[in-house]
Amino acid sequence: MELRHLVDLGDIETGKIMDILTTAGAIMKNPGYYSDSCHAKVMATLFYEPSTRTRMSFEAAMLRLGGSVIGFNDPQNSSVSKGESLKDTITMVGNYADIIAMRHYSEGAAKAASIFSRVPVINAGDGGHLHPTQTLTDIFTLTQTKGRLDDLTIGLCGDLKYGRTVHSLIKTMSRFKNNSFVLISTPELSVPDYIKTFMDEHGCEYRQADSLEAEIGGLDVLYMTRIQRERFKSEEEYERQKGVFILDGEKMKKAKKDMAVLHPLPRVDEITYDVDDDPRALYFRQSEYGLYARMSLILHILENGEKRLDARPQQNTEKCCGNLKCITHSEAYLPHLEEDGNCAYCESRLL
Ligand code: NCD
Repeated sequence: MELRHLVDLGDIETGKIMDILTTAGAIMKNPGYYSDSCHAKVMATLFYEPSTRTRMSFEAAMLRLGGSVIGFNDPQNSSVSKGESLKDTITMVGNYADIIAMRHYSEGAAKAASIFSRVPVINAGDGGHLHPTQTLTDIFTLTQTKGRLDDLTIGLCGDLKYGRTVHSLIKTMSRFKNNSFVLISTPELSVPDYIKTFMDEHGCEYRQADSLEAEIGGLDVLYMTRIQRERFKSEEEYERQKGVFILDGEKMKKAKKDMAVLHPLPRVDEITYDVDDDPRALYFRQSEYGLYARMSLILHILENGEKRLDARPQQNTEKCCGNLKCITHSEAYLPHLEEDGNCAYCESRLL
């Protein structure tokens, strides 16, 4: 399968995902062998939203493959601040770069970029929607540490509503055999409906829970997340949600001896610092695994060679996306697209 863009891991066959993980493992064992693999290639990192790990790991990945990096991490310093549309920025950047890694605050932005881009686009996070390269990082971490991606009871805890890493991880782990999910959150921050529908359609067992302490003993993996302050309508709403679920040394005593604690980072207060020294705390290793996962992804995408991609013909629908955070509401020229009955950009309901 030819890998063009990475907008959603759901667009990629499981076999290809496994190939990416295998290559990541090979790179990790012998990074020197790959140090010139992207000689003379240029990656553009377009970060419309703050990032430390994702942007730096993409940049480090490209540099360690022998390529170069251009881009911005503060849209205020680019023509975006003059009112340039996403379409124009993407079209123009495609003249300078061979591949684009983009993070945007609007849901569906990566899909929108992929429609117009003549070079591959990697979704480095689109609002509260998806974060597929974090999921590559997470599943690479699981293959390296637990040795499998199936037969796992996975607890996800914290902000399951706005946490894009959670959505991508559930969608991906639903594809492997016998995984079940324990979704630990307040009722206000439970997973969006389209994720529940996805689990139902894939016959995946899940249940919602409200106590980390009560659930921790049954988990093989605990995926902790930050409450996504920047996505709340008001500071008061955020204040009501923060600090509800905290993983500490006491709770770790109740967990299985081989439970893996993952966190996409940054952490705020949801894991106390005493947990860091527990061998089950994998989150800092996880950020290192992310480097190899991204190096591998770049190699797999660029192996398709120099050819420019064709803009894909699209079927416009009369309906509008019901999600006000969807990119179609801020970039009015975008065609309205339907996929499986929902908005093709952000998976929300069309009205
Ligand atoms: C996550 C993100 O940006 O969604 N961070 C990351 O990419 N490692 C998680 C978060 O910000 O909480």
